[in-house]
Amino acid sequence: MIPRVSALALVPLALVLASGARAAAGRDWSEYLGGPERNHYSALDQINAANVGGLKVVWEFHSGDFGQVQCNPIIIDGVLYGVTATSQIFALDAATGRQLWRFSDPRNVNAFDNDRGVTFWSDGQRRRILCTIGSWLYALDAGTGAMIPDFGVDGRVSLMAGLGPQAQEKWVVSTTPGTLFGDLLVMPTRVGEDQDAAPGYIQAFNVRTGTVAWVFRTMPYPDDKGYETWISKDAYKNVDVGSANCWAGMAIDRKRGVLFVPTGSAAPDFWGGHRLGQGLFADCLLALDAGTGKLLWYRQTIHHDMWDRDLPSPPVLLTVRHGGRMVEAVAQTTKTGFVFLFDRATGESLFPIEEKPFPKSTLDGEQAWPTQPVPSKPKPYARQTLTDDDISPYAENRDALLAQLRAARTGLFQPFGKDDTVLFPGFDGGGEWGGPAVDPEGILYVNANEMAWIASLSDAPKEADLAQMSPGRRLYTLYCITCHGPERKGLPAGGIPSLVGVGARIPRADLVNLITTGRRMMPGFTTLSQADKEAIASYLLGDPESAAGPAAPPEASAVPRIPYRFNGYNRFVDSKGYPAISPPWGSLTAIDLNTGEHVWRVTLGEFKELSARGIAPTGTENYGGPIATAGGLLFIAATKDGMFRAFDKRTGKILWQVTLPAGGFATPSTYEVNGKQFVVVACGGTKLDTPKGDSYVAFALP
Ligand code: HEC
Repeated sequence: MIPRVSALALVPLALVLASGARAAAGRDWSEYLGGPERNHYSALDQINAANVGGLKVVWEFHSGDFGQVQCNPIIIDGVLYGVTATSQIFALDAATGRQLWRFSDPRNVNAFDNDRGVTFWSDGQRRRILCTIGSWLYALDAGTGAMIPDFGVDGRVSLMAGLGPQAQEKWVVSTTPGTLFGDLLVMPTRVGEDQDAAPGYIQAFNVRTGTVAWVFRTMPYPDDKGYETWISKDAYKNVDVGSANCWAGMAIDRKRGVLFVPTGSAAPDFWGGHRLGQGLFADCLLALDAGTGKLLWYRQTIHHDMWDRDLPSPPVLLTVRHGGRMVEAVAQTTKTGFVFLFDRATGESLFPIEEKPFPKSTLDGEQAWPTQPVPSKPKPYARQTLTDDDISPYAENRDALLAQLRAARTGLFQPFGKDDTVLFPGFDGGGEWGGPAVDPEGILYVNANEMAWIASLSDAPKEADLAQMSPGRRLYTLYCITCHGPERKGLPAGGIPSLVGVGARIPRADLVNLITTGRRMMPGFTTLSQADKEAIASYLLGDPESAAGPAAPPEASAVPRIPYRFNGYNRFVDSKGYPAISPPWGSLTAIDLNTGEHVWRVTLGEFKELSARGIAPTGTENYGGPIATAGGLLFIAATKDGMFRAFDKRTGKILWQVTLPAGGFATPSTYEVNGKQFVVVACGGTKLDTPKGDSYVAFALP
């Protein structure tokens, strides 16, 4: 191979040293999102603006199990490691797509998570793949896929190991790969979003043994820094408040030994009366000492979050020119469309942040924090407000939509109430888990949704009404109705299945098990008793409930109930199901973080039937991020139209596009084997009510 001197010259020397010569040459995609900086960037340039039009499919790997896949596979020494729709871990020959091994745990019947990838660790002798299935962290032999018997107990360790006794019965999984620092693997977790949520502490596991090396408490104890920011003094006890977890993954500066951890809101999500106060360390970017878990600095991006505005992706590490000097920085994109940019060493914001006042809550027991941080630059990459002019020109029921918008509460950081609020950007951003790419020139590329959602709360069901119900219906009303709806019809367009006639699809035992484990976007209800789960199953299956024995009344539970119930996740759409607001409905933006100025912005995605009517591409909702290459390209799938596209990263012009076998709701990877550059993307479809897929597709030049 000819040494890539020009490509190497673009990578700062420190990064070359940190990631090792091999990865620096850009041949591997050795870690989640391309490397420890999570910059979605590759120094490969064989595929470039002049030849990208010639890309062809070179292999397609069918896993045989269908469903959503969000995995960003890693590629090391010509081997690709990824995850299937049903949480099976596999290794492929990255040049041919031939399967080398596959691992699944037979104890895992239902607990399929949207696993976004795996982590590779080696000490030169041992080579391991660290991955999660359900509530467990596994260590596998990278060569064979066999469990490492002396890791944890028989090859696996509980993701609750460091969360304390109060969390052991709760639901904890992980959807994003851990971050390595020497022999430590720091794990993100996904926990519940309601009053039964586990605490979202950050845990570091020893890769050799599986033991917990350190824990950082994101909900501080009375002696911890940050405790004073809680008005609700008992929140840390995790009786009816939890979460403040990092589910999105982390970035690491290995040279400094600093880990950057984005956290999400505290739970319950939408009524915070039991978790009053500014609430550190929820919705924060944390800088932790990677070796000890000690807090170095933090920046809170939302105070007392009442909208589930979790920081949705790992931050990206980059170097920018600022005030005449080069600054090693960390950039964080958000669901609201803001980009925060901090000096990595001090946590100081490179652009001024203003604390701006926002409205009060009208709900009993709730207190909005009076101000929220608003960065002066860059300007948001998604619209944040709606006016009458923003109703879709293509909607047939424009008048009704306009009336709905006028009647609703609107505006950034508008607290929810009992009447409708139009949340914009919506629950899925703005930015999402795909996260941004950033190149060595300091340009950040971020895709965004522009979809408004309707949100409201109602009074919690009254004791007297609950008492009239059968146990199964009562429990359904308390735990399931928010998503699956009062008539059990779900919201199929939003990915929540109808439960009408569910018995024809799922055996009773699996249904009971599914309530415990959860699956993908559905949380598990681990604290319900067996009798309670049987009662819900009887109710859903139409079986006589007495057959399951008496269900314990929910009032027996130790958890105090909250006065409001969230009314569910509804998109603001027109009578045809298109977004009710004017396009763009999906976008891709390039932002120069040296100056804070936008470079370009284009729509991302297309509805072919609208284009056929002469309407310019509107963009679509999109999930999964872009990658940038030294070849001057940006690759991104993510859209509802199931396309895979390459853009010119300087101009935003589409240079190449192809229809995938199913929607690629995942971030692609690029790597080189035997002198050939490949680009690969997972195609599981399913999301946004699209057809299911079961494949990973790799492209290269002929
Ligand atoms: C936060 C929203 C949410 C809540 C609350 C919720 N679910 Fe779900 N549920 C989902 C989603 C999303 C899926 C689809 C999971 C997937 O992608 O496989 C699902 C799937 C299911 C399925 C599988 C249906 C099928 O056809 O495959 C069953 C059964 C189910 N839920 C029952 C329940 C029960 C019972 C409760 C209450 C104890 C509940 N759910 C609470 C969101 C939710």
